[in-house]
Amino acid sequence: MYLILLGAPGSGKGTQAKVLAERFNWLHLSTGDMLREAVAAGTELGKTAKGFMDSGSLVPDELVIAMLVERIGQPDAVEGFVLDGFPRNLPQAKALDEALTAAGKSIDLALEISVPDEDLVKRLGGRWICRDCGAIYHELFSPPSVAGKCDKCGGELYQRDDDTPETVRSRLEKQRPPADMIEHYRNSGHLKVIDGTQDVSKVTEDLIQAIDAKGK
Ligand code: AP5
Ligand code: MG
Repeated sequence: MYLILLGAPGSGKGTQAKVLAERFNWLHLSTGDMLREAVAAGTELGKTAKGFMDSGSLVPDELVIAMLVERIGQPDAVEGFVLDGFPRNLPQAKALDEALTAAGKSIDLALEISVPDEDLVKRLGGRWICRDCGAIYHELFSPPSVAGKCDKCGGELYQRDDDTPETVRSRLEKQRPPADMIEHYRNSGHLKVIDGTQDVSKVTEDLIQAIDAKGK
């Protein structure tokens, strides 16, 4: 299955991608995670990407496309993947189509998780992430049993550098899925919009229903 999760910052792409990847044993590829790893490792890509990420802007297409195309060309991606955070615009969507076509494959589904802005601000302001296993929590909506500690692995929880009110505002202004990209997937018959304001488990249920309906 070649699956894309689309949605604004904080819509739940990471939360849902982890659940789907675990349940179906799929590879979860998050360009945000890949870029944060590059920043932490101090690579050339990471050094360039950091400024864009800190200001809530998209990292330039040529850098992100090269990173993603290289990653999906690796052997563990041959059977498919769930993409979280890519594509973010029409050029990225077209680059993904081209890379898959060249490998004799194509996208199966593009699932857009739809959430209004006021919910997104609350979600991003209260998000905590495990430093060790990457599990995602929210201090009100899905809190850990012990504050600051991961339920799954006991790791330390932290807040992302770009979850400050200022950067969140900028990300929501600049990074909502653009209409031309959504049209691209609607026109190709791959788009399904999911109501992302529901509980995490209900959103998962709707995503799985759409995946099952695809019959793969
Ligand atoms: P990235 O890491 O992808 O950030 P993002 O798009 O801003 O998305 P988030 O990770 O913030 O949100 P999410 O949708 O994963 O939500 P989550 O599940 O965590 O990218 C970071 C940066 O990298 C970008 O700003 C950009 O600079 C760069 N970048 C990445 N990809 C790029 C690309 N392709 N091109 C160019 N630049 C790129 O959930 C959020 C919170 O809500 C959590 O606390 C969670 O517990 C809670 N929550 C989730 N679902 C629910 C629910 N149903 N009800 C209540 N709470 C919920
Ligand atoms: Mg995410």
